Amino acid sequence: MTSVTMPETGGPGDGSVILRCEGITKAFQGVHAVNGAAFDVVKGQVTALIGPNGAGKTTLVNILSGSMTCDRGHEFIGGTEVTNWPSHRIARLGLMRTFQLSRELGGLTVLENLLVAPHQQPGESLFNVFFRPRLVKRQERAYVERALDLLDTYGLYRLRDNRAGELSGGQKKLLEISRAVMVSPQVLLLDEPMAGVNPALIDRIGGYILDLQRSGVTVLMIEHNLNVVEQICDHVIVLAEGRTLATGRLSELRQNEQVVKAYLGEVIDAGTDR
Ligand SMILES: Nc1ncnc2c1ncn2[C@@H]1O[C@H](COP(=O)(O)OP(=O)(O)O)[C@@H](O)[C@H]1O
Ligand SMILES: [Mg+2]
Repeated sequence: MTSVTMPETGGPGDGSVILRCEGITKAFQGVHAVNGAAFDVVKGQVTALIGPNGAGKTTLVNILSGSMTCDRGHEFIGGTEVTNWPSHRIARLGLMRTFQLSRELGGLTVLENLLVAPHQQPGESLFNVFFRPRLVKRQERAYVERALDLLDTYGLYRLRDNRAGELSGGQKKLLEISRAVMVSPQVLLLDEPMAGVNPALIDRIGGYILDLQRSGVTVLMIEHNLNVVEQICDHVIVLAEGRTLATGRLSELRQNEQVVKAYLGEVIDAGTDR
């Protein structure tokens, strides 16, 4: 497929579509978690994926990042069809997602967590390890430098030798983001990067996401906090019952009766803006 273009609606970038999904469908034991989701993510924008609990948001992120296959539908990254590609091949095209800290990685230090990230990526050549040790050493040094730089950026530098498993909830969120950024993604998928995080850190993480956008990264984030969506997202996709209910700016969606009924009403009524 050739690259598709869309009018620019805000944020930097050339307005082209970097991630597209068409009719993505996934059922678990016959029950649809995602049911025909279709939308475009425009290069250079921060896009929010919102919707009620159980709408299929996390399942969709799992599918788009290659952690899970879909039953039907198509995914394109920059015009290349990548439907049901494994995560390492999708990562090679520049799409990364954050992962919750696993038990395994929790035993490593904060710095080690960043250093293993590139090795979980493709392009790691065993040939180089054996036959080009100096190149590998130089690359290792570059990785350490980049990792320390990132830890500094994300305020984790002083914790670099601490075990990742012992970090606070908020620090773990920062570590998850820095691990993903370590491999220089073009598109970053974030599943509730601010869930359970205190208000000061929410602001900081929001700032980091805007910094990433300024450096050219496209972001798709699942987010419940509508204040955050309003402040940092250029575009919003509403998912309900596995389908794309609406897309647009949050201000437009607030006027959309269907959206208010399916989701926003619930959030506003509860007065939570979780
Ligand atoms: N691995 C799984 N096995 C069975 N059902 C699942 C699995 N993952 C998600 N689901 C179901 O799919 C639906 C969508 O879940 P999820 O994608 O987590 O929604 P959201 O992130 O929007 O809250 C829910 O009904 C959930 O119970
Ligand atoms: Mg979820």
